[in-house]
Amino acid sequence: MSGVLTMETFVRPSVGSGATTLDAAWYTSPQVFAAEQERIFACRWLCAGRAESLARAGDFFTVELGGENLIIARDAANAIHAFYNVCRHRGTRLCERPAGRFLGSIQCPYHGWTYGLDGELKVARNMAEVAAFDRAEYPLKEAAVGLWEGFIFINHDRGANFERDFAPLIGRFERWNLGALRTARTISYDLACNWKLIFLNYSECYHCPLVHPQLDKLSPSDSGRNDLSEGPFLGGYSELREADTSLTMTGRTRRAPVGEVDGADLQRVYYYTIFPSLLLSLHPDYAMVHYLKPVAPGRTEVLCAWLFDPTTIARPDFDPSDAVDFWDLTNRQDWHVNELTQLGLSSRAYSPGPYSNAEGLLGAFDRYYRSVMGA
Ligand code: FES
Ligand SMILES: [Fe+2]
Repeated sequence: MSGVLTMETFVRPSVGSGATTLDAAWYTSPQVFAAEQERIFACRWLCAGRAESLARAGDFFTVELGGENLIIARDAANAIHAFYNVCRHRGTRLCERPAGRFLGSIQCPYHGWTYGLDGELKVARNMAEVAAFDRAEYPLKEAAVGLWEGFIFINHDRGANFERDFAPLIGRFERWNLGALRTARTISYDLACNWKLIFLNYSECYHCPLVHPQLDKLSPSDSGRNDLSEGPFLGGYSELREADTSLTMTGRTRRAPVGEVDGADLQRVYYYTIFPSLLLSLHPDYAMVHYLKPVAPGRTEVLCAWLFDPTTIARPDFDPSDAVDFWDLTNRQDWHVNELTQLGLSSRAYSPGPYSNAEGLLGAFDRYYRSVMGA
């Protein structure tokens, strides 16, 4: 399937689906959360971060994903690896640092077994004396890696096929040149709600007039059009009320558009959910991403990042705060209602309620989620 967008691709939200919200257990039950780890987070592509963090050979960062600690590192041949942070000798965690640069090798702090940047075991002290020991049999174990638009995805299922799984997205957002954008700011949030509520909240603007007056002023809540409306990737665009505006505290921007963005896209903001770990928001002059990490049925860590064109960042007057402050305010408004929803879901009074016509993507998210969970 081609990933290229055309005007015909976009449709108004579907009407009269009759879909309702899910039972509370899907958001509150430890058993469901444990099942999600197996059926989703152990075998889906999870976003680990950006390739821009690994500029040179040996650069690495560590990340906790799908219940595993991983070392994401660039080797001397420029390839990116996702090593399990586990020594092949006695299982010790190899690296405790959040980020840094390995000087040519990765050494275990316990007995000094030393691995190349490609994961191969290079040095295992005194092990030559051990009968039948073969260094070649003990490389670092790796998760599968997929690269897309500067994002690094990992999959604990080594047999997963990134190109096939991401086919609807590959080439789709070329005009934003996302691979070249650089992260200028990040803010992390700790939310008292289930990860799926964040996906659902992101997928509708029915709440915008009440929850986000500052957003509603710049972008009409009923201007949404979807081009991905079933499956693991969902979303579309909303319109900006005026040309030459963006989602910033003033509604204005002095930044040039990113990539090749022009025409109708100068007056749109695109929003996509990338199941199960990433939200992608494309503005005329910047991109914003939310990296999600579920930590408990009622708790999710979210890292929000703002990305800009490197030439924009290099300008002496570059200041991302107008975009960051706008979305930090909007994020916190969203987190608040998500947490209120989590509270209500835990009540005996909760029962599934009907989605509005402006919540078509939520029914689609639930359908896809339930199919993945075998429900
Ligand atoms: S556990 Fe790593 S070298 Fe012994
Ligand atoms: Fe919102």
